[in-house]
Amino acid sequence: MAVLATSALLAIVGPAAPASAGDRHDGKTLRSAAPRDLRIGTAVAGGGHHVDQPYPDPFFHDKPYRKVLAREFSSVSPENQMKWEFIHPERHRYNFGAADAIVRFARQNGQAVRGHTLLWHSQNPAWLNEGTFTKAELRSILKSHIYTVVGRYRGQIHQWDVANEIFNENGEYRQENIFIRELGPGIVADAFRWAHQADPKAQLFLNDYGVDWPGAKVDAYEALAKELLAARVPLHGFASQAHLSMRYGAPDQLASVLQRFDDLGLYTAITELDVRMDLPEGGVPTAEQLQTQARYYRTVLDACLAVDDCNSFTIWGFTDKYSWVPVFFPSEGAATVMWDDFSRKPAYYALLEGLRQAR
Ligand code: G3I
Repeated sequence: MAVLATSALLAIVGPAAPASAGDRHDGKTLRSAAPRDLRIGTAVAGGGHHVDQPYPDPFFHDKPYRKVLAREFSSVSPENQMKWEFIHPERHRYNFGAADAIVRFARQNGQAVRGHTLLWHSQNPAWLNEGTFTKAELRSILKSHIYTVVGRYRGQIHQWDVANEIFNENGEYRQENIFIRELGPGIVADAFRWAHQADPKAQLFLNDYGVDWPGAKVDAYEALAKELLAARVPLHGFASQAHLSMRYGAPDQLASVLQRFDDLGLYTAITELDVRMDLPEGGVPTAEQLQTQARYYRTVLDACLAVDDCNSFTIWGFTDKYSWVPVFFPSEGAATVMWDDFSRKPAYYALLEGLRQAR
């Protein structure tokens, strides 16, 4: 896999990879540099694509990884461990082991937890996707899942991604979402209501990718947010995942998108930031690519900082070693802020500097 090829090469060619050359770390961490009202988060690697990789579960087995996870971040998001297929593998059986361990780790390290996710079209278990249910059964399955999972972590979750990726690019509801398809879009409001009943303190979010520029998808979220707020549904936030590719240009309109939701009185957040690039032959990014990547990371951070109530800034993994990107996009990679050995890239320093300036 490109991940391994990259790490092997970095060990040989050092200079192209600023593992040692550019590592001017002086004891500051992202979490300590951040303004008080902004959580700095990362996905916690495990489940999903990691299951097929030639390494054991990172969160449980990689000690240096856990050290960086605790040191650098004030918020953690289970990458896969709270998704339906992981946490609810059979209709009448839940698997809380990994999620419990992450919540415990967060408590021990003074970190918030972002719960991910409750209503999504992807990574649902076969029993749900392939089962035959009446509408009433499906509704009760969703309600009891939300009560059970959200209720278990009541008081311990800062924010929940209640509805994840519910719109297509053209702003229509995704029909791949079994609950929306079978029960209609009104189920979104119910999911928020149930989550709020199960944990009245958690901030409840709409979350999606492809909302970094204005367009039909952002319009759809804005209309939905207005509708939910008017109906007094407990919606508290709107988040951009911000999975970016250097193929498509810098997200220079993100602040204006976030501002539209801030104007509605909602919190905003960045929840899954990474910036992938086309890797040159040999798999090692050029210095110029790394600078461009750093600029993109900084642009996203600045967008969050520019908006009053952007209160959580999360990257989707901090090391290339465990990134989902090369698994999904074989010719792209190097999308995170650290190399495989946890040494820092220019993107890391761009964030650190941006946070320092904002304090
Ligand atoms: O379900 C199939 C299984 O049937 C098959 O046998 C196996 C063989 O490889 O693959 C399984 O699918 C895997 C899936 O996780 C389910 O566990 C995929 O290969 C694997 O690539 C996938 O990865 C996760 C992905 O979500 C799924 O969409 C990644 O670990 C995770 O980082 C990623 O995270 C998502 C966020 O939750 C939402 N926003 C986008 C983000 C990036 O895709």
